[in-house]
Amino acid sequence: MILQGENILKQYHHKGETINALDHVSFKVNKGDFVTVTGPSGSGKSTLLLALFGLIRLTSGNIIFDGKRIDNIGDRQLTDIRKKSIGYILQSFALIPYLTTIQNVMIPLALEKIPGKEQAKRAREILDYVGLSDRMEHLPRELSAGQQQRIAIARSIIHRPQIIMADEPTGNLDPTLSLEILEFLKKINRENKITIIMVTHSSVAAGYGTMKLHLNEGKIVTSGN
Ligand SMILES: Nc1ncnc2c1ncn2[C@@H]1O[C@H](COP(=O)(O)OP(=O)(O)OP(=O)(O)O)[C@@H](O)[C@H]1O
Ligand SMILES: [Mg+2]
Repeated sequence: MILQGENILKQYHHKGETINALDHVSFKVNKGDFVTVTGPSGSGKSTLLLALFGLIRLTSGNIIFDGKRIDNIGDRQLTDIRKKSIGYILQSFALIPYLTTIQNVMIPLALEKIPGKEQAKRAREILDYVGLSDRMEHLPRELSAGQQQRIAIARSIIHRPQIIMADEPTGNLDPTLSLEILEFLKKINRENKITIIMVTHSSVAAGYGTMKLHLNEGKIVTSGN
């Protein structure tokens, strides 16, 4: 098991009202699972990813990652775990507009203070893997949406994380490009045994899950393989 949530409660307080964005959620993820998280808008999917990624604190409950509790540790330690072990992919790609393809991909290694030569070597390997060796010096705006998302994926795996969290990674892509990205995520999942947790609205994307979590009003209503 790589990730476990135990009785996760996340409340937001808004104008005197309490919202249970996550309402006592429990689940277990095994290493190598491709987890899909589905549910209606407002059901708590993004909140779940943010909580697992340590970007928001729980109201109560535990998160155990790789055998250690991460819900009650300090910000510095959490940042270290994030930098080392987790990759993140967003719907909007979140590339830095004034950096080239290769510079964007090297960011996680720069954060880990890996020597420049090694950064460039690994970035070239990963860009070859995602089929973008011929676009290394382009800026994001000079690339197609699918290419930009492949760069975001390259950036999310370059530091060899144990787990990738993706919030609607195909939300801004047409059906053909979506399939390309989903196949790519499947390949990363299979070949590198990287666990993937993917939030999606698309039933096609949800079909890629080897484990499925369905949320409604902050509760897990179905889970299984
Ligand atoms: N910072 C916040 N302050 C107050 N309420 C919040 C905050 N963030 C989220 N919520 C509420 O928590 C609930 C869950 O939100 P969340 O973003 O997790 O939904 P979601 O399932 O990702 O929806 P979508 O499919 O639309 O992205 C919603 O009712 C939302 O309004
Ligand atoms: Mg969301």
